[in-house]
Amino acid sequence: MVVSPVSPILCFFSIYIPSFASPIAPHTNLSLSLVLVLSPLYTSLPFMGAIDVAAIAKTEGESMVKREEERMGEAEYMKGVRHLCDTGVTKVPNRYILPAPDRPHIVRCGDSTNSHNLKLPIIDLSLLHTPKRAMALEDLSMACKEYGFFQVVNHGIPSEVIEDMIDVSKRFFGMPYDEREKYMSSDLRSPVRYGTSFNQIKDRVFCWRDFLKLSCQPLESVLPFWPSSPADMREKTSAYANGMKSLFKELMSAILESLGVSMNALSEFDDGSHLMVVNCFPPCPEPNLTLGMPPHSDYGFLTLLLQDQVAGLQVQYKDEWVTIDPVPGAFVVNIGDHLEIFSNGIYKSILHRVLVNSLQNRISIASLHSMPVEKVISPAAELVSESSPKRYMDTDFTTFLKYISSTEFKKKNFLESRKLTRTMDQTTEGQLC
Ligand code: OGA
Ligand code: NI
Repeated sequence: MVVSPVSPILCFFSIYIPSFASPIAPHTNLSLSLVLVLSPLYTSLPFMGAIDVAAIAKTEGESMVKREEERMGEAEYMKGVRHLCDTGVTKVPNRYILPAPDRPHIVRCGDSTNSHNLKLPIIDLSLLHTPKRAMALEDLSMACKEYGFFQVVNHGIPSEVIEDMIDVSKRFFGMPYDEREKYMSSDLRSPVRYGTSFNQIKDRVFCWRDFLKLSCQPLESVLPFWPSSPADMREKTSAYANGMKSLFKELMSAILESLGVSMNALSEFDDGSHLMVVNCFPPCPEPNLTLGMPPHSDYGFLTLLLQDQVAGLQVQYKDEWVTIDPVPGAFVVNIGDHLEIFSNGIYKSILHRVLVNSLQNRISIASLHSMPVEKVISPAAELVSESSPKRYMDTDFTTFLKYISSTEFKKKNFLESRKLTRTMDQTTEGQLC
């Protein structure tokens, strides 16, 4: 069978789900001109000018200049923050400035209280192969319920594979813009996509992040599309991707056991979707005004995150944003929306975001895994009973795509939209629990 390298799987995880109740509103200072540049209204401006140029010349003149600046800036912003930094910015442009309530409150390193840092449970995976397996599963289960996040050590991925991945990622983002630009694509189905921000077409406020998204399934078919430079990119990245796939399956096996559900689901992951997102967060002159990634949850079963030694990831815990300090050699693992649905809400898909800092470049590599895109995800039969009714609607990728293009997208996040409420013995679709 010839497998098309550009299958629907390729776009599966390409879209993150903004978790704001509404998309980030433009900063109040963000001039109207930007909105005009981005909207169809812009094309009608010459007609507006023709109506009464003299009367509006003065104010329009000023705003036209500003508009022109913004428009030129816009093209530059599309090239990404790495490029912006290369031009020597010393202030965060308006386009990246969040409205005050959405800005991070950065606690400086060295402050006496470390209350904004959270020690995630650390799961020693080597224990799964010893008589202490039951205890390790217990810890895993607690972490998935309480935090939706944990770190894993003794995971069996050789340190060389990890170091090579970080190294080649740094070299990729260190290449001149012209080299990186070759992989820029607005086609969500492309097996390789270089880009910036969160969703650079839709974001009204940009994030301080550049990314390289690589579809990894099926690896042999997509590999020829991956960047050919740096010269060892494909070799290092595919070794890493293979490692991530096996680690994911090992984790899923432990997770299914911890939930007490059948292992049958495991085979669904063999050809499941797998996307790797290599993130680059350059130093930012005013890190209090923007974010590397906005609050979001991941759309899959598990995300395995490798972060270099620069902190930045924050998770929501007890209504606070807390920083996850990097643990050398460990992976941060988080529950995605699909696992929350599959576990009927026992395990939680938690909001997380990324802070930037003024001193150091940060690299992270997220591996997002799920079942094949055509698969319908529903709560596991063993976890649904009279006393524990189904809490989520069945979900597939088509529903997700429909959802993000609907107006509902602006009101609540995808996972919320899949929740069922039971009222008076009746099931109401899509209401908040
Ligand atoms: C992601 C993500 C966190 C990080 O890529 O989905 O949440 O620390 N990344 O880069
Ligand atoms: Ni994420």
